[in-house]
Amino acid sequence: MTLQIKTLEEYHNAYRRSIESPEAFWAEQASTFYWRQPWHTVLKNDFITPDIQWFMGGKLNITENCLDRHIAERGDQTAILWEANDPGSPSVTYTYRQLLAAVNQCANALKERGIGKGDRVCFYMPMVPEVAIAMLACARIGAIHSVVFAGFSANALAELIKDSACRMVICSDFNARGSKNTPVKSVVDEAISLGCDSVESVLVLKTGEEKVAFNPALDIWWHDAVAHQPDTCTAEIMDAEDMLFILYTSGSTGKPKGVVHTCGGYMVYTCFSFRNVFQYRDGDVFWCTADVGWITGHSYSLYGPLLSGAITLFFEGTPTFPDSGRFWQVIEKHKVTQFYTAPTAIRALMASGHDEPDKYDLSSLKVIGSVGEPINEEAWHWYENKVGRGKAPIVDTWWQTETGGILITPLPHITDTKPCFASYPLPGVQPCLVDPAGNEIHENGIEGLLCLKFPWPSILRTTYGDHERCRLNYFAAFEGKYFTGDGCRRDEDGRYRIIGRVDDVINVSGHRIGTAEVENAINQHSVVVESAVVGYPHDIKGQGIYAYVITQHPVTDEEHFRNEVLMVVTKEIGAIAKPDKIQIVSGLPKTRSGKIMRRILRKIACGESDGLGDISTLLNPEIVDELKSGVLV
Ligand code: WT7
Repeated sequence: MTLQIKTLEEYHNAYRRSIESPEAFWAEQASTFYWRQPWHTVLKNDFITPDIQWFMGGKLNITENCLDRHIAERGDQTAILWEANDPGSPSVTYTYRQLLAAVNQCANALKERGIGKGDRVCFYMPMVPEVAIAMLACARIGAIHSVVFAGFSANALAELIKDSACRMVICSDFNARGSKNTPVKSVVDEAISLGCDSVESVLVLKTGEEKVAFNPALDIWWHDAVAHQPDTCTAEIMDAEDMLFILYTSGSTGKPKGVVHTCGGYMVYTCFSFRNVFQYRDGDVFWCTADVGWITGHSYSLYGPLLSGAITLFFEGTPTFPDSGRFWQVIEKHKVTQFYTAPTAIRALMASGHDEPDKYDLSSLKVIGSVGEPINEEAWHWYENKVGRGKAPIVDTWWQTETGGILITPLPHITDTKPCFASYPLPGVQPCLVDPAGNEIHENGIEGLLCLKFPWPSILRTTYGDHERCRLNYFAAFEGKYFTGDGCRRDEDGRYRIIGRVDDVINVSGHRIGTAEVENAINQHSVVVESAVVGYPHDIKGQGIYAYVITQHPVTDEEHFRNEVLMVVTKEIGAIAKPDKIQIVSGLPKTRSGKIMRRILRKIACGESDGLGDISTLLNPEIVDELKSGVLV
């Protein structure tokens, strides 16, 4: 098995080795996996083009490492433990042996529909075991999965299907979350009707009795396609640098981009980080609450745990159904040992059930994690006291869709923790802070822009179909460095504290939303002339979405207009991108060259209109007073 650091000294040694001889360090980790053919070169490191390759020439299949490899030793151990939305439903378990059989059956069904190596398969699914089975089935046959969070709209889904020309969509009929049973299949139907000509079939999982429209030319039921298949399937032999998956994420400009991860490096790094960050031991029950529609679900609900032979809990429901004790009830029920969730959930649960955790036996917990956005001090302490109970330390893990795995984090029971600090780089990770001119800042106790100086195995390789976009987004700002888009502080002892995005990306409840995307959506409304969207601090969501909107003519019924704007955004992107506040304005502050001064809009939305600085250089300084007086609080 991959290295598991157990003491502070081991951490320092591993870190030193990983910096002095990264290739030897990672080759050592990689050699603990099952390769069909060894690599000839550990690393190609070109941060300019960029051209990053790990374990070159190596051949493998990640599912043989997630599944087959474990059968001899733990074939009858639980791999996936599934907890349904309805607390009354029985839990479902798949042992490693059962999971392998199910994956093979699904893989054979995909092959029967003509899916093979290199084909893209889009997922639009709730958190059910079948989503894991089908993702692994894709990996088994070398197909590339592109999972789309089932909260995105038909329009957004259609864009993503088209961007990577998916040949198949895998979905369910409905999505049971909380007290709602949300339609899924009908959203897929609508997306496909928007010109997704590449889609040849739709594999539909039946979850309940409610009927859905069914088009026999395109649609196939999961139970018809999968159940009769043989339960063995030879794994496709993949090159270490063949694509494993695409995952779309928002940036500061344009449409979401397809972040590409490849087989070998992603495998090595997710397993390594999982084992170390969560200090997983045999028999532990690991629970990451993220939906598989996000990278956290990919790396730490699915691949990291299975690569480590762990028990991973999948949860279909929400933190507040049937009440705000649900998470704690599930932890108690399954004796969860590692629990990994997002600050937005922690804040929501703190607000709705401050003492709720006290009612449950949480003594099984050894490590509790946080991810996705900065965790504020109050939430950090509540989480540590009420959930960790002084026994389970918090790992505040910083990473991104593009990094594939956790890069900066405390190691529980090994390094110290400090509220709001992601703290220390994992072995192999070389963070640095730069000033806006790109000079590296070497001193401590200072703030800068967070970059990484050296590749780690699961760094993104490209953005699907547009390598130049990848270069411009991440590698062009500071030569020879990967730029994260985050501002960051390093304290006197070298701990990192992530402050948040410095680009036009808003982090709403741990979800990345590009301001440009929301603006484009709002501008679809027939009376909207122009809009500008910024983030502002929000008690539960971390950041809320504030939209300034210019209309063609004065609107008589503002309430009605706002609802229409919300509907347009929901239709174009999804409910998660709905603005929290919409201010109707007659103009936007612009420079003489016509650029919107977002800095001013941000300050006003944050209620900091006293510190706007010099506005006399604006084309239209008079607009500032109007914005200030109309600000929504
Ligand atoms: C952005 C990446 C990767 C997990 C889920 C989000 C922010 C992530 C932290 C943290 C402060 C964090 C950053 C980052 N972020 N983790 N522990 N503390 N901020 O993935 O959607 O790709 O977003 O989330 O701003 O750039 P993502």
